[in-house]
Parts: sequence; C-alpha cells; structure tokens
Amino acid sequence: MKLIGTKIMIRELSFKDQEAFYEYGKNPNVGPQAGWKPFPNREVANQVLSGMILNKGTYAITLKTNPKLIGTISIYNYGIRKYNKVKSLGYSLNEAYWNKGIMTEAVRLIIQYVFEKTDCEVLEVGHHSDNYASKKVIEHCGFQYDGRLCKFKKLYDGRVVDADFYSMTREDYERKKKYE
Ligand SMILES: CC(C)(COP(=O)(O)OP(=O)(O)OC[C@H]1O[C@@H](n2cnc3c(N)ncnc32)[C@H](O)[C@@H]1OP(=O)(O)O)[C@@H](O)C(=O)NCCC(=O)NCCS
Repeated sequence: MKLIGTKIMIRELSFKDQEAFYEYGKNPNVGPQAGWKPFPNREVANQVLSGMILNKGTYAITLKTNPKLIGTISIYNYGIRKYNKVKSLGYSLNEAYWNKGIMTEAVRLIIQYVFEKTDCEVLEVGHHSDNYASKKVIEHCGFQYDGRLCKFKKLYDGRVVDADFYSMTREDYERKKKYE
C-alpha cells in the first residue's frame, strides 16, 4: 500500500525502519499517550517492529521528501463493536514532527483508503481522555463522538485511564465526500 498526500506519504513498514522506529518510540512523551511503554532498548523496538510487519495493518508515515519513518498508523480489529466490518485506527508520531498537521493528513488519507478500497463499514478511533492532541486530530477528520468508557484500561504503569471513542460509518463518509 502507498498513499500520497500533500506533505506526507504512507507506505509499508520495512526492517530498514528499525533505527527510526526506536528513535521515536524510546521517547517517554510518545508511547504512554497511546498506552504502550517507551522502548527500553533497540532489541525491544525491533521485536515490536517485527511483530507489526508480520501481523500487517501497520504502516509507516514519512515526509514526502524523505523516506525516513517518522510515525506509524495502524488499521486493526479491536473488538468493541460486535460486527465484522469494523476497523479501528491507532497512530503515533515522532515528537520532533508534532503540531504540523501531519497526523491529521495521515488519518484523512487512511479514511479515504478504508472506505474507497476495502469493504469496511465503520472506522472507529479512541483516545485517552486527557490526550487533547489526539482528540483534535479525530475532530478535524470528522469522526462522530460515541462516548466515554470510564476506567477503560489499566496501563503498563498501573494508571487506569478513561477513554473517548468516535466512529465514522460508510454513510458518514459518503455524505462528507459530497460536501467537501
Ligand atoms: C496525537 C499525535 C499523533 C498528533 O499528531 P500531530 O501530527 O501533532 O497532530 P496534528 O498536528 O495533525 O494536530 C494536532 C492538533 O492538536 C493540537 N494540540 C496539540 N497539543 C495539544 C494540547 N495539549 N491541548 C490541546 N490541543 C493540542 C494542535 O494544536 C493541533 O490542532 P490544530 O490543528 O487545531 O492547531 C501526536 O501528538 C502523538 O504522536 N502523540 C503521542 C502518541 C499518541 O498520543 N497517539 C495517539 C493515541 S490515541
């Protein structure tokens, strides 16, 4: 898969992304917001990357002008909804690239891909309730708010977090497309 935007590209992950993946995933400001522990060393980062490559569904985000991985975006089966045509979205970005509209563009490209190229009927996405940057990305991309799950998850560090969930149906997407 290869998606090309105005600032970024989304492409398949590769074992060549190991160093760039470790570089951003060791940062304690990145993983915990998405529920995962910062990578303590290269070996752990490489194991996680290998798992993502094998399991499919996670893609590399790069700038258009540079093939270096700066973030990842995943389309996966989460399972809150009991319906097989639902996909969930997850993402994270190297902190050096935050607040430049990169993830908003990446999520928009993925929305288009999911509804134009697959038979997915609902795309869902969530964020820890205190993750305001992710909330903004989701709102910018036009998802509908579904609600909050209180005490959603116990994280690796023992914190129990609330999470907010959103979705976009195929009908929402088609309606949005007409008016854009
Ligand atoms: C969430 C994340 C992916 C956002 O990526 P990004 O490329 O910086 O996002 P964008 O630049 O497209 O949009 C971010 C928006 O949030 C806003 N924002 C950033 N920090 C904020 C904060 N603390 N409070 C309120 N708004 C905030 C920005 O101003 C921007 O909004 P704007 O376009 O209206 O100005 C990135 O911060 C990240 O990787 N965080 C750690 C991992 C993570 O949280 N993953 C998501 C798990 S659900």
